[in-house]
Parts: sequence; C-alpha cells; structure tokens
Amino acid sequence: MEDVLGMIERRRSIRRFTGADVGREKLVLALKAAMAAPSANNARPWRFIVVTDREKVRALCAAHPHASFGLDAGAVVLPFGKKEGYDWFDQDMAAATENLLIAIANLGLGATWCGMRDPYQCKIREIVGLPDDQYIFALIPVGVPGEVKGPRGDFEEERICWEVYSG
Ligand SMILES: Cc1cc2nc3c(=O)[nH]c(=O)nc-3n(C[C@H](O)[C@H](O)[C@H](O)COP(=O)(O)O)c2cc1C
Repeated sequence: MEDVLGMIERRRSIRRFTGADVGREKLVLALKAAMAAPSANNARPWRFIVVTDREKVRALCAAHPHASFGLDAGAVVLPFGKKEGYDWFDQDMAAATENLLIAIANLGLGATWCGMRDPYQCKIREIVGLPDDQYIFALIPVGVPGEVKGPRGDFEEERICWEVYSG
C-alpha cells in the first residue's frame, strides 16, 4: 500500500536551503497538486505567482517579517486571488497551499508556509506588480533543502471524539 501518512508527514517547514536552483518541472508538478485541492462550489479562487529570479526571491523574503530565512531559496510561490466578497477564500486557499507543500516535500524540495497579513500585502504586491484587488494568501520560499527533518509525530488520540463530544 502507498505510504499515505508518510507522504503527508514528509512535509515539514524547511528554512535552510543549499542555494541550488529549483527546476520548473517540479514547480509545475507541485502547482498541479495545489490546483487539485477542493474548493467551495469548485470556485478555484487561486492563482500563483512563481518567482525564480534570485534578486526578487531575496527581496520578497526580506519584505516579509518572518521569511528572512528564505534568502537562499531557489523560488518563491505566492498563492493569490480575489478575496473580497468571497467567503471561502481562506479555506480554499489553505487547501491548495497544503497540497502544494505536500507535493514539494515529496519532490525532494523544501518549503515553508509564511502566513500573510494585511500590513504585509503592499510591499510584496509592489515587488511582483500585483494590483490592489488581489490578495496574497501566503509567501512560500521553496528550495533544495539544506536541512533534514523527520516527521513531527504529533498524533494525539485524546483530540478525537468518536461519535459524540466526550469532553
Ligand atoms: C498560517 C501559517 C502561517 C505560518 N507563518 C510562518 C511564518 O511567517 N514564518 C515561518 O517561518 N513559519 C511559518 N509557519 C510555519 C509554522 O511555524 C510550522 O508549520 C509549524 O511550526 C509546524 O512545523 P512543521 O511545518 O515543520 O510541521 C506558518 C504556518 C502556517 C500554517
């Protein structure tokens, strides 16, 4: 049987990169996985900016308050879309982002989901020429891993209620 849990647990936040390039083929595969995510009414609100230009990768990571570890990343992926007036935006985008990260890990690459808040939008939009009506959901440095992390193993059986709430 395919090691489903193993594939999911392989995704860890990787914050050290060798500096090597990330092939476009792998990026496209990971984006295929992202677009295979479920979304409310199959609305698929997602779009993605993929940046591989090193100067821009560095500028993007420096513009986010918690992504400076990504200066040696080979790429940055920015899932984005029209958030205003669409109630399911965050849920749909999270599903796509998690698919993307699981695929990246299983392609031998590393990445970290860096969350985006309203105050971070402006500077990052400016770097990639994104208009104001588009919302950047996450900033994801992607690279060849320079660190190895095993599964977190955070399964906690007591978080599960079978059938009814059990306190
Ligand atoms: C919504 C969200 C926002 C996050 N933002 C950041 C961030 O800005 N910078 C960062 O280094 N990690 C960020 N992370 C990664 C978490 O720190 C990480 O997922 C968590 O510590 C668990 O570790 P793991 O991803 O290796 O399993 C974020 C994760 C999520 C889901």
